[in-house]
Amino acid sequence: MTVKLTLPAQSEMLSKDFIYGVATASFQIEGGKDLRLPCIWDTFCNTPNKIVDGSNGEIACDHFNRWQDDMKLIDSLGVDAYRLSISWPRVINESGELNQAGVDYYLNILDRLKSNNIKAFVTLYHWDLPQHLEDQGGWLNRETAYKFRSYVDLISKVFGNRVHAYATLNEPFCSAFLGYEVGVHAPGIVGKEFGKKAAHHLLLAHGLAMEVLTKNSPNTLNGIVLNFTPCYPESDSLADINAAAFADDYLNQWYIKPLFDGKYPEIMSQLPTEHQPEIHDGDMTIITHAIDFLGINFYTRAIYRADTDEHFLQIDPPNPRTDMGWEIYPKAFTELLVSLNEKYTLPPVYITENGAAMADKIIDGVVNDQDRVNYYQQHLNAVNDAIEQGVQIKGYFAWSLMDNFEWAEGYLKRFGIVHVDYDTQVRTVKASGLAYKTLITNR
Ligand code: FCB
Repeated sequence: MTVKLTLPAQSEMLSKDFIYGVATASFQIEGGKDLRLPCIWDTFCNTPNKIVDGSNGEIACDHFNRWQDDMKLIDSLGVDAYRLSISWPRVINESGELNQAGVDYYLNILDRLKSNNIKAFVTLYHWDLPQHLEDQGGWLNRETAYKFRSYVDLISKVFGNRVHAYATLNEPFCSAFLGYEVGVHAPGIVGKEFGKKAAHHLLLAHGLAMEVLTKNSPNTLNGIVLNFTPCYPESDSLADINAAAFADDYLNQWYIKPLFDGKYPEIMSQLPTEHQPEIHDGDMTIITHAIDFLGINFYTRAIYRADTDEHFLQIDPPNPRTDMGWEIYPKAFTELLVSLNEKYTLPPVYITENGAAMADKIIDGVVNDQDRVNYYQQHLNAVNDAIEQGVQIKGYFAWSLMDNFEWAEGYLKRFGIVHVDYDTQVRTVKASGLAYKTLITNR
């Protein structure tokens, strides 16, 4: 085991042009709940048995009050960029106008980043939909896409030149499938008749926002962040191979194919009509609006077998696994990047999230997370392999800057390269954070 992170001497990832960053999301770190409108995650947390430890995002890492110290922490890591998300319910009030106090909060952060030459990668939607919009149907209501466009229009005008890159959405798969089909994420709606409808409205929102960003903010990189969990067959039987291919189309390609090919995967015709999205004339043209970059989030792969009732059945992953129970399989990362590059004409790619939850222990003020260092090492190598195979990858963001509210898992799972003591809010850079810093600053 090594405490260092290394890359081959000739690696493009050692060039100063390759961007290294750390990532967070508003609901997961901010707290400051009384100074914004409620969102779907507040409601979900208040619903019994949804969050494993019964927690919520009311205080989280108290970043809302501690952001200045957290900016120093980010500086101390030597990163080139910080990926943060904007809380829609903090910056827009119920009548759809800007909430100046919320806007000022982000302006201060963005100005602080700029003054230290740290590039701001801003995500406009990382799952915290204003609750009043959910009360009107949320992402099942086509109107929400237009509300999103109007929010993006207002906020991008105010942020001006402070932003380096905008991502419209983070992981629409999670919003649609986890939130509106299997219901393990907010708003907790269950039913196959909902998932693909929500997905279509999310992608429409993305396309509408791209039109606005291109107009208001032509000098930023404007794009989207998608997550992928590559699908592998359990055996080389044709049935398992077909099951994995169906799963890939249903869970992964569903969110990228419309962006580049202007259509959903062929398997759509195999879905009952009531499970299919409602596509209006012109929607696919809006959704295929050119993007300046594609953000890719990767954590693990999944293995599938054929099933008699369903199109695919996911089996338990083998070891080694992280604390989330997710298999550590970096080869899938390279294979994913190479295969996407073959299937689509990709713009420059940024790895906008990669990282691991581990069962950290803080002993005498030190977190010696060798397991996480190993995870990063293997996955940085995997990205480097993809670059060597011709994929245009321009940056890499560690998920996450610090331990935070891990959605349905509450505070039980720690993804940070910085440890957070939730009783005292003390931050401690882990061994992985130090190794990341050394890699970046030694370039
Ligand atoms: C991703 C989310 C991010 C974080 C990681 C572990 O799906 O975008 O907020 O929770 O998983």
